[in-house]
Amino acid sequence: MLRKNKNNPIILSTWNFGLPANEVAIKALSDGGNAMDAAEAGARHAESDEENNSVGYGGLPDENGNVTLDACVMDSNGNSGSVAFIQNIKHPVSVARKVMEETKHVMLVGEGARKFAVSKGFKEIDLLTAKSKKEWKKWLKERREMTPHETHDTISVLVQDKNGDLAGACTTSGWAYKMHGRVGDSPIIGAGLFVDNEVGSAAATGLGEEVIKTTGSFLVVELMRQGYSPNEACSEALNRVIKAHNGNPDFQIGYIALRKDGKAGAACLKWSFDYALAKNGVNKLHNVNGML
Ligand code: GLY
Repeated sequence: MLRKNKNNPIILSTWNFGLPANEVAIKALSDGGNAMDAAEAGARHAESDEENNSVGYGGLPDENGNVTLDACVMDSNGNSGSVAFIQNIKHPVSVARKVMEETKHVMLVGEGARKFAVSKGFKEIDLLTAKSKKEWKKWLKERREMTPHETHDTISVLVQDKNGDLAGACTTSGWAYKMHGRVGDSPIIGAGLFVDNEVGSAAATGLGEEVIKTTGSFLVVELMRQGYSPNEACSEALNRVIKAHNGNPDFQIGYIALRKDGKAGAACLKWSFDYALAKNGVNKLHNVNGML
């Protein structure tokens, strides 16, 4: 039985925009916040960054020019909250946390999610920046199919606080120029994110449809429960995808995993994938090569 890592907080997040998100999460912990506070704070940072075109404000819109956002959170007690297809709200991750803490539900979508957010004091704003609008107008001329990999994708933030407790958050604007109404893996507990305080946590980035079909993040955590290391668990979850696509998937999925003893890992299907790990006072970007 592995011991819980204590007094040594760890933050693990996806992509290079995970680095500044980790810094914000570290500050939240040093200000006395717990793992959930830190994961939310890190995710909010990416949601605010208008240069990031796959998360929150400045995210690329759907095919009709609407920015629609997905997010979820999960805490160390197994509580979770989620919003999907929410529009005009800058911080869906915080709305997801409100769903978790202030409703009897887990998931709110679309108009219901937006109205709930407004009732909780969230301001409505136009999420389509001039830059994203220009990109969308350019795309409209050819309507070429994009994948999440081309537009970078989800930020997922996994945190272990000084008590050894785990929590996570993920948030995205999803697949650029998707069909109106499309929802990916990021707001789906067990697909985009899963946390089990007794075992570990995992989160996904990449083509949400394929993550959903394999219940990816839940699978990674269950594999760690069976004794797989975080790296092995991420790779084995991706093996299921590779098998389902006859050994030749033409899209990207990346997983990050944080085991309760503080061991972190990651894997991706193709090309390469960056993740940011903050541990022992060092916040650094790491790169993993694709399995194929
Ligand atoms: N992984 C993000 C999405 O597919 O929406």
